Amino acid sequence: HGNSRINNEGHLEIGGCDTVDLVKNYGTPLYIYDEALIESKCREFHEALRETGMKYQVAYASKAFLCVEQARLIEREGLCLDVVSGGELYTALQAGYPTEKIHFHGNNKTIEEIEEALNAKIGCFVVDNFFELEVLQALAEQRNEEVSILLRVTPGVEAHTHEYVMTGQEDSKFGFDIMSGQANEAVEVSLNSTNLKLLGVHSHIGSQIFEPDGFVHAINVLMSFLNGLKNDLGFTADILNVGGGFGIRYTSEDEPLAIAKHIEKITTIIKQQCEELDYKLPELWLEPGRSIVGEAGTTLYTIGSTKTLPSIRKYVSVDGGMTDNIRPALYGSKYEAMLANRANDENKEVVSIAGKCCESGDMLIWDCNLPVVQNKDLLAVSCTGAYGYSMANNYNRIRRPAVVFVKDGVSREVVRRETYEDLVRNDRVYIENSSR
Ligand code: LLP
Repeated sequence: HGNSRINNEGHLEIGGCDTVDLVKNYGTPLYIYDEALIESKCREFHEALRETGMKYQVAYASKAFLCVEQARLIEREGLCLDVVSGGELYTALQAGYPTEKIHFHGNNKTIEEIEEALNAKIGCFVVDNFFELEVLQALAEQRNEEVSILLRVTPGVEAHTHEYVMTGQEDSKFGFDIMSGQANEAVEVSLNSTNLKLLGVHSHIGSQIFEPDGFVHAINVLMSFLNGLKNDLGFTADILNVGGGFGIRYTSEDEPLAIAKHIEKITTIIKQQCEELDYKLPELWLEPGRSIVGEAGTTLYTIGSTKTLPSIRKYVSVDGGMTDNIRPALYGSKYEAMLANRANDENKEVVSIAGKCCESGDMLIWDCNLPVVQNKDLLAVSCTGAYGYSMANNYNRIRRPAVVFVKDGVSREVVRRETYEDLVRNDRVYIENSSR
């Protein structure tokens, strides 16, 4: 998919770069991003939304993958940026990202983080709870500034029966509940806060959503909530943010709806509801993360040891694992893989791919059909671009991989591989006895 193909030498090529050469240059494990594919995903959102005639903004959910160059790419593509921590904000600032296009999310923004965001003059805060409303009003008043906000509300879309929320209780800690009247109260508090400017509401129903019915359901709830506010408080929302969550195709079993189709459904229902309720059509904001970067990422590993249990299983171990991609261990997520250096080899067998961590659960793929492997073969795991590197960790003091962008036959390292020195950089050493 994307700009990948198998070249004449039988090597996987991404963005015009031979992965075997990339590994020679940068080592493994290695994250490769097909830059043109990220760009085309951004454009898919723009084009589909432009088509609808609605005013819109697309904010890239940087939690899916962020580094300075990624922020710059997102800016070039004309997207806003959704950040959820001081660290993501700092990265965006380092990239020179236009601060008015940054939205700040999170259920427990610290006062320090809120101040950092106020100092940066970001575009808006997506306020999650009453405590944050209070803190934000107080800080804004101190500074004698007006701060734009959205309120995150939970429309109470039932999670368990649908595939659109992977984690059943995901929404529970987030936002103001509509059903119980808390969301209503939050709107009143906001309208009475002298230094807060309420632009509208936000909801995010989940992630890896394949069918649009969850969005439709949520929008129905949101629109009737907004209509109630109009009647009771005379408040009309300028912005309706329905979050992210658009699913991608990790394996051949996944059949997500195309982005344009999701958008068509979403905008149709909003327009329809606004017409019925005689409500002024709001601006639509979306926050995709996974669907922008997920399919653009590939992880390359070097194969090391193998272990065969006759008539049970063959384990094939790679030089990474849950430290660079925790999703299989954490969520049971499925991936597909191929041999990057012998992509056309037909002599296949079924093996299971193990990571190198001291943990039985560190398995990347169970039952994967691969050419019979040899030591030093290169394994390419596809669709690792979202929540892979961003959730990478140093378990077992394993160094985080390098990240490389490829496009038109040119590669550039955008995150360098961690060094052993990086691993001890924060360690303090106390020498008790000067003779040691
Ligand atoms: N907006 C909000 C408020 C969110 O909480 C999220 C994701 C997004 C947007 C972007 O959702 P996306 O388009 O990427 O699905 N670590 C998990 C995913 C957690 C998603 C958290 N929130 C995973 O690896 O699947």
